[in-house]
Amino acid sequence: MITIQYLKNYEEMSRYVATLVSIRIQSGEPFNIGTPTGGTPVGMYKELVAKNLNWNKVHTFNLDEYVNIDHQHPQSYHNFMWENLHKYVDTNIHFPHVEYDTEIGAAGGLDLTILGIGTNGHIAFNEPGSEFGSTTRVVNLSQQTIVDNSRFFDSIDQVPTQAITMGLHTIMKSRQVLLIAQGQKKLDILKKALWEKVTTEIPASILQFHPNLRVFYCD
Ligand code: PGA
Repeated sequence: MITIQYLKNYEEMSRYVATLVSIRIQSGEPFNIGTPTGGTPVGMYKELVAKNLNWNKVHTFNLDEYVNIDHQHPQSYHNFMWENLHKYVDTNIHFPHVEYDTEIGAAGGLDLTILGIGTNGHIAFNEPGSEFGSTTRVVNLSQQTIVDNSRFFDSIDQVPTQAITMGLHTIMKSRQVLLIAQGQKKLDILKKALWEKVTTEIPASILQFHPNLRVFYCD
């Protein structure tokens, strides 16, 4: 039975998850971490940066990136990661490409992957209908995701329509997964994903089969 851990507020959730991550970094062991973007993880990155850790042995593998976006664009995920983490810490940076699964495997696999969840149940940019066996690939973004992400752009027609994303299989191979979510809309889809039928229509539902999943939520 999967449980959702409720945190008092966003700050508390960000601090809690950052502490879990920092313990792993402080151990000094090589550490491969799948890193998310979006609104939800911003507080976690802030907390992590404030801890002044040594990231030399850490490899960050971003979950996804828009296709046909300049890496300097304020809303590219390269830029998001630069502004929220990479400019503050000396880490080993990886972004998705066609051979990403091979690269991750050669690096020893993902030790920990942090995920958000889309209101349509996507994880990374694995939209409804994604195959459970999927690996890193270019996908079309769903209309729901384009609408959701338009808040970061000046207008909806500026939101890229495609992205390159880790697949569901890539994510499931991560030795541990932490899922973070904030707000009632996310709670509704979380409950469906975690406690109802496993279906490709709700990609996050595959996480029910993950042997080491922790889920964090705040209002
Ligand atoms: P958000 O995105 O954190 O901006 O809500 C989550 C996601 O789409 O995975």
